[in-house]
Amino acid sequence: MDRKSFSAGVGLGIVGFILVLLVVVLAIVYSGAYNIAATVDHTPFVRWAFSTTMHNSARDRAVSAGAQPEFSQSMVERGAAEYKSMCQHCHAGPGAERSAWAEGMLPQPPHLIEAASEWEPNEIFWLVKHGVKMTGMPAFGPTHDDDTLWSIAAFVQQLPGMTAQRYAAYEGEASNGSHGD
Ligand code: HEC
Repeated sequence: MDRKSFSAGVGLGIVGFILVLLVVVLAIVYSGAYNIAATVDHTPFVRWAFSTTMHNSARDRAVSAGAQPEFSQSMVERGAAEYKSMCQHCHAGPGAERSAWAEGMLPQPPHLIEAASEWEPNEIFWLVKHGVKMTGMPAFGPTHDDDTLWSIAAFVQQLPGMTAQRYAAYEGEASNGSHGD
């Protein structure tokens, strides 16, 4: 086989491989083979792909979130009240559990008492402003101004290591996100 027909063969092989891959992907999409039930975890590959995409996408985009204002104690206090009413029912708080229905979400909203230490304040701001597709994490940007979102970031940043007493001492009413209980 001369060099030309060898590279033509390799080219055909690649095209064939891509076609087969496309057919497999379409078969999975149309057949309903992938279980979308929130009661069944993702395959390890899909979980890894989603979680890595989310982390890298948020980190990359947060750089353009704008300059972080200096955090004051009054901002943290304001953020605490917002957190209790808008976030605690999914993410829990020191000494405060999340709502029972949040246990049925997939992915599970993480306890920010631990998870917040993985994120910089501008990344928390970005996540809260824009939300996260296909996870249930809402975007609060369309309904809240940047000042409010920065105050939430200021408070969330202080969550790791916060005692239950200190959390309870902040003003604000916990909402469980549903009516009647
Ligand atoms: C309806 C439930 C729900 C509400 C309400 C909610 N979140 Fe989330 N949040 C989620 C879910 C689900 C994720 C994605 C978890 C994942 O994929 O790792 C998430 C992710 C996050 C993350 C990234 C944490 C990580 O390491 O995965 C932060 C930070 C965050 N939320 C902050 C907030 C704040 C602050 C509020 C309130 C303003 C809030 N969230 C309200 C469900 C919620």
